[in-house]
Amino acid sequence: MPAEIISGKDLAAELKGQMKAEVSKLNDNGISPQLTVILVGNNPASKSYVKGKKKACNETGIDSEVIELSSSITENELLQKIEALNQNDSVHGILVQLPLPEHIREQKVIDAISPDKDVDGFHPVNIGRMMTGTDTFLPCTPYGIITMLKSKNIPLKGKHAVIIGRSNIVGKPVGQLLLNEDATVTYCHSKTENLKKYTQQADILIAAAGKAHFVNEGHIKEGAAVIDVGINRMENGKLTGDVDFEKVKEKASYITPVPGGVGPMTIAMLLKNTIKSAKGLDPLEG
Ligand code: GUN
Repeated sequence: MPAEIISGKDLAAELKGQMKAEVSKLNDNGISPQLTVILVGNNPASKSYVKGKKKACNETGIDSEVIELSSSITENELLQKIEALNQNDSVHGILVQLPLPEHIREQKVIDAISPDKDVDGFHPVNIGRMMTGTDTFLPCTPYGIITMLKSKNIPLKGKHAVIIGRSNIVGKPVGQLLLNEDATVTYCHSKTENLKKYTQQADILIAAAGKAHFVNEGHIKEGAAVIDVGINRMENGKLTGDVDFEKVKEKASYITPVPGGVGPMTIAMLLKNTIKSAKGLDPLEG
């Protein structure tokens, strides 16, 4: 039997409906959740992602502002902009779209965002809180992946989760979140020898390699849940994932499509984090 498709698009729409109602209640209590996005330069993919984030804010009633800055801005000027937003009480979330131009050190910029407004969950303080299982802003893509798995009641406890990719944004944190759910976690990456030896043992396979159709049916254990984080643009302009969807869906029990899978969930989780920030982050809660 072919795999059940986990539609991130549908789940994100459902969550956005719930969040819209929540934002409306917050508005009634005088709280207006606000997200500020900084976009540096003209990277077309970044522009498109930022547009998607702004649209999603509009749909849920979250106030948003996009600050567009020239790629010639200095690192210091950017850090000063961030500090002004840190001090601005009407701003609940700050997101600096990555990647940044080469002359700006990304980690310096991430470190400059107040951990209490870091709705991306990239600040080292928030990464530390995530690792220790303390309530915090979880990084949006990993948070979206866990939410998708839970939406289908896919068992995680004691199961073997194998991750292909070890980026700071996806691979590393999704492994940590799966570990927090009592999964047994294996990290694979571009230097891993005999990749299939690991992926064939996966009950849950997370593909975040950044290579189109890198994962095929030979990588998969029968009945695995396969989450495709890849967003690769093909020569014909269409988007495709890291997983050969048509082949793998015949062997997996669950699979996420591209587009319409993890992508919309990443944005939904950003909205969730912004609302959480507007309500006030309590590190002792949860
Ligand atoms: N670039 C690609 N993905 C992301 C993301 O989740 N957040 C930010 N800030 N930049 C990105």
